[in-house]
Amino acid sequence: MAGRAPLPRFSAIVVAAGKGLRAGGELPKQFRVWRGKPLLRHSVEALLEHGAERVVVAIPQDGESATQEALKGIEAFEMVVGGETRQQSVRNALEALAQADCDRVLIHDAARPDLPYAVTSSLMLELAKADGAIPVLPVVDSIAVADGNTMSGKADRDVLRRVQTPQAFRFEAILAAHRAWQGESDAGDDAQVLMANDGSVHLVLGDERLKKITFAEDFANMVPDFRVGQGFD
Ligand code: CTP
Ligand code: MG
Repeated sequence: MAGRAPLPRFSAIVVAAGKGLRAGGELPKQFRVWRGKPLLRHSVEALLEHGAERVVVAIPQDGESATQEALKGIEAFEMVVGGETRQQSVRNALEALAQADCDRVLIHDAARPDLPYAVTSSLMLELAKADGAIPVLPVVDSIAVADGNTMSGKADRDVLRRVQTPQAFRFEAILAAHRAWQGESDAGDDAQVLMANDGSVHLVLGDERLKKITFAEDFANMVPDFRVGQGFD
């Protein structure tokens, strides 16, 4: 990794236990091919390449062989079965990491395959100053508050941010926050879980490339399959 300043040691969690209902298809989206590789493989490879010491992948019940197939040839990962909600999947993976020696953790969606090194590095550096650091983007459109199809108010977009993953945490802080969580069984994201337990969360600049693959057309539109076999991957 020439030219890259060393980052503090960290582990990673990739949540890949969802059903991918909005994307449809025969396989859950994390196992489908995007830019020549299973979606899940992109994140796991990027995190290892960025220096993660180990990656815990939260997988669906019965998802072990699909995961082994998607990550064939990669050794530094382990699997835990996820839960009914994303939050439960994260919790299961955190509990697995609690057995290990782990100070910092990056928690990432398998559905965001294109992770730039600059995001990983700014998160890990910002984590020196807070319990958590998350990537966000500004809101560029104006915001309407909706009551059905009637506009019922407005919100100040200057104070709003779009939140992405990966999200970086001091391991003990995020583990304690998940264990203490009393709210609904699926918080919006892990930063909310940390904040609810009085943790501090800093914001760093995210990246449009971290867009979450959500709908069938996200596989169809991002055509770059033309790259397969042409040396781009
Ligand atoms: N996820 C998970 N466990 C769950 C639900 C979601 O690990 N019980 C993971 C997904 O695999 C995905 C990430 O959380 O990588 C973000 O969730 P989302 O994009 O909503 O994926 P799905 O829940 O699989 O898709 P859908 O909501 O369309 O069914
Ligand atoms: Mg979902």
